[in-house]
Amino acid sequence: MIVNGSQQALDLCARLLVDPGGGVVVENPGYRMAHHAFEAYGAQLLCADVDAHGLVTEQLGKLGPAKLAYVTPTHQFPLGSFLPIARRRQLLDWAAEQRAWIIEDDYDSEYRYAVRPEATLQSLDTRGCVIHVGTFSKTLSPQMRMGYMVLPPALVQPFADAKRVTDRHAATAVQRALARLLEDGSYDRHVRRIRRLQQARQRALVDALGRHLGDEVEVQGAASGLHVVAWFRAVPAAAESALIDAARHQGVRVHPISPLFHPSKAALTSTRSAGLVMGYALLDVDTIEDGVRRLSKALLHLRRKASSHHH
Ligand SMILES: Cc1ncc(COP(=O)(O)O)c(C=O)c1O
Repeated sequence: MIVNGSQQALDLCARLLVDPGGGVVVENPGYRMAHHAFEAYGAQLLCADVDAHGLVTEQLGKLGPAKLAYVTPTHQFPLGSFLPIARRRQLLDWAAEQRAWIIEDDYDSEYRYAVRPEATLQSLDTRGCVIHVGTFSKTLSPQMRMGYMVLPPALVQPFADAKRVTDRHAATAVQRALARLLEDGSYDRHVRRIRRLQQARQRALVDALGRHLGDEVEVQGAASGLHVVAWFRAVPAAAESALIDAARHQGVRVHPISPLFHPSKAALTSTRSAGLVMGYALLDVDTIEDGVRRLSKALLHLRRKASSHHH
């Protein structure tokens, strides 16, 4: 089904699959725009942690009953891991036990650099419980609002009905134009071209972070996607907003990772470092280099300020 961006897919899932007070398993940290859609329909979010291999599936059994799980297995948002096959099977087994649906948000799988394409969760699903969601926001434009859902057979009719009463259908002129690009191969050529472009930008970013900040930062999630997470080893999470302010003073706008954690888990922040979610999709290589240089200056200023407070 063609939808107006993945956000509409998530909204329709929330509307049709969330009962007020019902549990929905989500990743923490995770894509809060999805969580908000579920909460808008009364969901109780059940947060599972994310480690270097994505959702920690061992925790699923302890989270309580749920009829829905929302995951980003191809490229965990925001930490960037690929969910290994064993964990995919654990997730599917859990869903079978709970008789739960799983939303597989495949928002940027076009941008794979260091990993080979793997089976989607939906292709491993033998019970018809996985809803696969994709978007053209990352390859064409988020302003277009073009996304799609690959629905299990049992959900096709209810979702088609819900979509019809919501907004009848996605604008057909845009669908027709997109269909032309897909049919004549120009969309594939476009994706191959921008994948190389984005990979070069990512390399420039990771490279610049290494040169200007060295051991100060640890970069996570560079195997695919359009962003990386930079952890500032010596800066505590509590100083994240001070780091962002210092960066703004140097003329760079960067985004904190803290808002991507569920507020109920905020107490855990005391143990982690400050993190930035760094997107590079709209920046050229020179701007990236300049921005990272400014960011390293910001860190220096932050240090000086902190040490003058101490003395
Ligand atoms: C996890 C995730 N899903 C989906 C999207 C795309 O949303 P939409 O298709 O509504 O533009 C994004 C964009 O930032 C995202 O990060």
